[in-house]
Amino acid sequence: ARYSRIIGTGSYLPPRRVSNQALAEQLAQKGIKTSDEWIVERTGIRARYFADPGVGSSDLAVQASLKALEAAGCTAEDIDLIIVATSTPDMVFPSTACIVQNKLGVHGCPAFDVQAVCSGFVYALTVADAMIRAGSASRALVVGSEVFSRILDFNDRTTCVLFGDGAGAVVLQASDEPGILASELHADGRHVDILCVPGHVDGGQILGDPLLKMDGQAVFKLAVGVLEKAAHAVLEKAGISESQLDWLVPHQANIRIMHSTARKLKLPMDKVVATVEEHGNTSAASIPLALDHAVRQGQIKRGQNVMLEGVGGGFTWGAVLLKM
Ligand code: ACO
Repeated sequence: ARYSRIIGTGSYLPPRRVSNQALAEQLAQKGIKTSDEWIVERTGIRARYFADPGVGSSDLAVQASLKALEAAGCTAEDIDLIIVATSTPDMVFPSTACIVQNKLGVHGCPAFDVQAVCSGFVYALTVADAMIRAGSASRALVVGSEVFSRILDFNDRTTCVLFGDGAGAVVLQASDEPGILASELHADGRHVDILCVPGHVDGGQILGDPLLKMDGQAVFKLAVGVLEKAAHAVLEKAGISESQLDWLVPHQANIRIMHSTARKLKLPMDKVVATVEEHGNTSAASIPLALDHAVRQGQIKRGQNVMLEGVGGGFTWGAVLLKM
């Protein structure tokens, strides 16, 4: 049988680290009150990274991709499919994937973006796996990259403290051995309004609000429920029991959501990769950033069973179970 397997991971954070304290001081100048204490207690976040003006998702994606290619022992020329998950593309069109392809100096292979907000990486990995198993690609670059700082409303303390910028990437290669074991993707468009950036370009103007809007409590409640279901469904599909799971790499939105998922999977927190404290929520980039972090720390090792799971705007959610 033909499978797909991750053969290299990479990630990149822009150099500007902004601590909760620094962000609180910045917001205080506008008369907006928040504190390190509040942010840590409600979310587990202590810092995030923000890209400088002029740096786009494609720039972060290229840096993460180069590291993933290096780890995989190949070059951009060896890649025959590029998928970028992002909700903060450089342009309305063409896709960020096409811009990344050009910046990597290669031309010709298919390249496209996947838009599923914070579930974007899980969606992109599932699409790449399906294309590899179908024989339409043999070595794919799958990237999650975001500059969420560009769509944050820095007058809204309930959202601007939660997100950060960054990118993560994997090289996924055709293999005789199983890598991606199973995946589960879902969406429920009834919940478009609870997490969205409603603005759009119309007649040369932006109509509607171009900044992120979120009903945090509604998102929290939905997220906890759907993640539990998706996690159990993907384990069952793969024929893997909870106790055979070596690592959970969840979307890094909020440490409380991660605690809840871990509890429901009867998984101790030392099997959960958590980077939200240092990265904040980087949307589609959060899972590949956390995965790369854990691989480079020597935590996640070849042969281990790893679950990735994401949830975000749409409402979208999903999980991928893989053998590293
Ligand atoms: N600093 C200080 N106080 C704040 C801040 C802040 N940054 N933000 C809100 N508050 C205040 C509120 O105004 C409110 O005050 P009030 O009681 O006087 O009205 C109080 O804190 C409590 O607000 P709640 O919204 O009830 O706080 P909650 O405990 O629900 O935490 C949070 C809010 C962190 C957004 C939480 O709902 C959450 O994490 N939701 C999930 C959202 C999420 O993770 N989204 C990410 C995108 S989707 C995804 O990736 C899953």
